[in-house]
Amino acid sequence: MQLSELHKNVVKKLNANNIESSSLDTKIILKEVLKIQDKDLILDKNINVNPLEDKLITDMVEERINRKPLSRIIGRKEFFSLEFEIDDSVLDPRPETEHLVEEAINLIQKNEIKNILELGVGSGCVIISILKICNGIKGFGVDISKDAIVNAKLNLTKNKLDDCHLVVSDWAKSLNMKFDLIVSNPPYIKSSDLAYLPKEVGNHDPSISLNGGYDGLESYRKIAKQACDLLTHNGFLIIEIGYNQAKDVSNIFNSHDFKLLNKVKDYSDLERILIFSKKKIKKQWKSSFQEASVSLLKKLKLFPKNLSF
Ligand SMILES: C[S@@+](CC[C@H](N)C(=O)[O-])C[C@H]1O[C@@H](n2cnc3c(N)ncnc32)[C@H](O)[C@@H]1O
Repeated sequence: MQLSELHKNVVKKLNANNIESSSLDTKIILKEVLKIQDKDLILDKNINVNPLEDKLITDMVEERINRKPLSRIIGRKEFFSLEFEIDDSVLDPRPETEHLVEEAINLIQKNEIKNILELGVGSGCVIISILKICNGIKGFGVDISKDAIVNAKLNLTKNKLDDCHLVVSDWAKSLNMKFDLIVSNPPYIKSSDLAYLPKEVGNHDPSISLNGGYDGLESYRKIAKQACDLLTHNGFLIIEIGYNQAKDVSNIFNSHDFKLLNKVKDYSDLERILIFSKKKIKKQWKSSFQEASVSLLKKLKLFPKNLSF
């Protein structure tokens, strides 16, 4: 069959099955199987597609109709302008997580940050994207899934990074050093909502990367409890949240000696990223002590009238 005819047929079939991104998906499938460029799709319409290629294309189209995401079909995803291999053990990298990367890079460029830890690396897309831009920073990453760590290591090699240490760990349990920056995109969907996710997500992203426990906040509680001791005195923590979790997650981190510095919205105008620093306990203690002393001096009428703090 000729490419132009096949192109039309595939778009038509995807449209008939309510695949919204039919034109883009068709282009990606054809380019993947026929190993051609965008320009060939436009200029070289008379390319002949052999029966084996035709069968491969038909199978991929069937998978897409069954709501398998295209990134899962071709086994790759673009994130922050880099390419990542993804297998069944890792979350399909999401565009909204690029804000986590942007905020981390911003902080690194404005502060003295020597090392960074990611909790829950999955494919490695976050830590690798940060390290690709910020030279000279040491990277560390953990994930509870051994297979995810294997996938992330593959992406380290693919993206030619070697100064990043990846280990299997239940959050920070097996770590005993301090970090200037911690980033994480933990699982944050309520267990009871998992059954109602779109098929693309529910049938393909591993449940360990989605399930945030009975109220969606379990990972935040665990991370908040462990992370304060892992951060250096002037360190920062940047975390991705579900669209309606800003208040709850702020409260959790606030109760573990973190101070909310900023909330960042995503492309859909939803609060998506929270940035925290450590509360400066010593300073607070000092100012409470100052206040108590001033109030005692005032009571004793020993405080000079025209002096203020
Ligand atoms: C939402 S995914 C994020 C993956 C990747 N960072 C990204 O943004 O695409 C959450 C990740 O946390 C990992 N995870 C879940 N529970 C964990 C735990 N107790 N300790 C370490 N990692 C965990 C999952 O395996 C998954 O890779």
